[in-house]
Amino acid sequence: QNHLQSRDQQQLRRFSFGVAFDIDGVILRGRVPIGGSPQALRRLLGDSGSSKVPFVFLTNGFTRSLSFQKFAEEVYFWFENPLLYTHQTEYSSLINLPFRYEDQLIVATGKGEPALVMSEYGFKNVLSLEDYASLFENIDPVSQYKYWATKKPMDRSDLSRNIVPTCDIHSKSVKAVFVVSDPVDWGSDIQVICDILRSGGIVGHKGGTQPPLYFAADDLEYQAAFPSERLGLGAFRIALESVFNRVHHSPLEYVSFGKPNPFVFKNAESVLNQFQPADEHGGFKECGPVAHPFETLYMIGDNPFVDVKGAREAGQPWFSILTRTGVFRGEHNHAEFPADLVVDTVEDAVDYILRKES
Ligand code: G3P
Ligand code: MG
Repeated sequence: QNHLQSRDQQQLRRFSFGVAFDIDGVILRGRVPIGGSPQALRRLLGDSGSSKVPFVFLTNGFTRSLSFQKFAEEVYFWFENPLLYTHQTEYSSLINLPFRYEDQLIVATGKGEPALVMSEYGFKNVLSLEDYASLFENIDPVSQYKYWATKKPMDRSDLSRNIVPTCDIHSKSVKAVFVVSDPVDWGSDIQVICDILRSGGIVGHKGGTQPPLYFAADDLEYQAAFPSERLGLGAFRIALESVFNRVHHSPLEYVSFGKPNPFVFKNAESVLNQFQPADEHGGFKECGPVAHPFETLYMIGDNPFVDVKGAREAGQPWFSILTRTGVFRGEHNHAEFPADLVVDTVEDAVDYILRKES
């Protein structure tokens, strides 16, 4: 096994460049591939499906490996490639902080199953904000008008099934709130998050220090299936912050992860680095990949405020390419965050890269 592995590694070519792809608005719109993305990605793949050119996906959207598996199946191609989940990397690292969240009650909100997402990241005592709220009678005074709500409030058997402590939730302090992806019921979520944060973590109590609040990303808008942009996590954050700062004496404190945080681009660089053999002659050293292996890393994105801003702030070796298939549709470059290159589609971007690097 080791022998085979090192022979494969010796066949690897050293690349002076790598590529990071944004997904929404570049590779997909909703669930539909756009901009010649399947063709563009195939050009970076070897015959076996393993990557010929080092590349990663750098998205603020996906939340679980399962989603990526589905994505790969849906666009009808298969490859082995490290995928960078921006907030998975960052949220997982929070477990090691002194707060010791793994033993504490945390709540999570977002579309789908936010509590499951957080438990997959290693958090043990986690409740979805919806389930948490359902344990407080009358917390949402307009709930009876929410005809779309089909889920029944959680009962005790749900509590034990779901990785949460069985002690009385009402007296248990919420140690942190995580916004994992786009919240579904903004009104209720803003109300209940304000309740938790204003009370120092025990709803109904007065005062106390605001528990930490984390957002997976801060995209004001993003490109989904609808023709024009949709409001994203950043819009929710602004709404929550505006309300919180009016009802509470001290301003909302929060941390946002994901692009454009330069930390994400550094992570991407180290993921791409894993593709590289360690010396120029194709040999692989036991000590692992070299520290700064790339002359150029291309970020292909559709959002100047997220993808281009992030690549610019990350500095060398990042080179930003802006497509016209998503949030950005301008004829020329973006005025505030100009990219190093503007092209129509991701396929054009890959053409440019392969021409330049050949
Ligand atoms: O919620 C925003 C997200 O969908 C954006 O995804 O792939 O453009 O970073 P992406
Ligand atoms: Mg995008």
